[in-house]
Amino acid sequence: MNKARVYVTRMIPEESINELRKHFEVDVNFEDRALTKAELMIKAKGCDALITLITDTVDGEVLDAIGAQCKVVANYAVGFNNLDVAAAIQRGVILTNTPGVLDDATATHAFTLLLATARRIVEADKYVRDGKWKGWAPMFFIGMDVDRRTLGIAGMGRIGSNIARKAKSFDMKIIYADARRNPQVEKELGATYVDKETLLKESDFLTLHVPLMPETFHYIGEKELQMMKKTAVLVNASRGPVVDEKALLKALQEKQIWGAGLDVFENEPEVLAGLTALDNVIVVPHIASATSETRINMGKIAVNNIIKVLSGQSPETCVNPEVLKK
Ligand code: GLV
Repeated sequence: MNKARVYVTRMIPEESINELRKHFEVDVNFEDRALTKAELMIKAKGCDALITLITDTVDGEVLDAIGAQCKVVANYAVGFNNLDVAAAIQRGVILTNTPGVLDDATATHAFTLLLATARRIVEADKYVRDGKWKGWAPMFFIGMDVDRRTLGIAGMGRIGSNIARKAKSFDMKIIYADARRNPQVEKELGATYVDKETLLKESDFLTLHVPLMPETFHYIGEKELQMMKKTAVLVNASRGPVVDEKALLKALQEKQIWGAGLDVFENEPEVLAGLTALDNVIVVPHIASATSETRINMGKIAVNNIIKVLSGQSPETCVNPEVLKK
């Protein structure tokens, strides 16, 4: 019997590819760039399963081009806004993601952005490298205190709660807003559930951990930025379009808020002109889960999901369980 065919849209850790090869015929796009939608439609045609990245658009048109034999698309990410869930349900294609294994890395990264922005680390590093440092001075690179300040978390899921746990070691007061309450973090960490307006008004640091969906598009816009403290720092390691980048640029230029640490952008890999000219912003290229162990573990989940589905079992981390019930 012919082996099932798996297409991987870009190189992921070798361990994952080797594991896949034990079971399937595997094609990998080895080019160091994301495929266009048109390329994906051609290259993945005829495959039974795919590993995709957040840079791949998988909608009904793509699924139809790949063919009705395709049973599973395993997204190598926890976020899956690049997948058209309704189109997959309609076609009976199982979609999976990689939750859990990247919580530590992502929360650590968000906290790193918070600390680095508060203490102006990138700006100060550049100052030294540029040979501008003339000696200790009492009034330069004055930053923001983090200890005992209020941390606002938008989205208290796995990653939000992980960052809340880290914040406890800084004795931070934790407030959060979410569509659902999280009794566990309220009990364990004393986090307080607040409405969005209170979150905006009271946070010294506001970190975003909501998924991107119609309800969270531009969750932070001009109106929200105006409600924030002038001393506040915004951290975004969720998805770029959760923040209205133009409104953020204006708020930062006009010192409406104090600073921002950004891992994600509205039109990646483009960064809005103007943002990089500001000292009160740290910009990094969507690397929150980029640690070797995390990326290997993400690969293990994606591969395991494909093995399970292609052997007739349910995957561990399905994002459209409606298909499993069919
Ligand atoms: C990365 O952005 C992810 O969703 O895993």
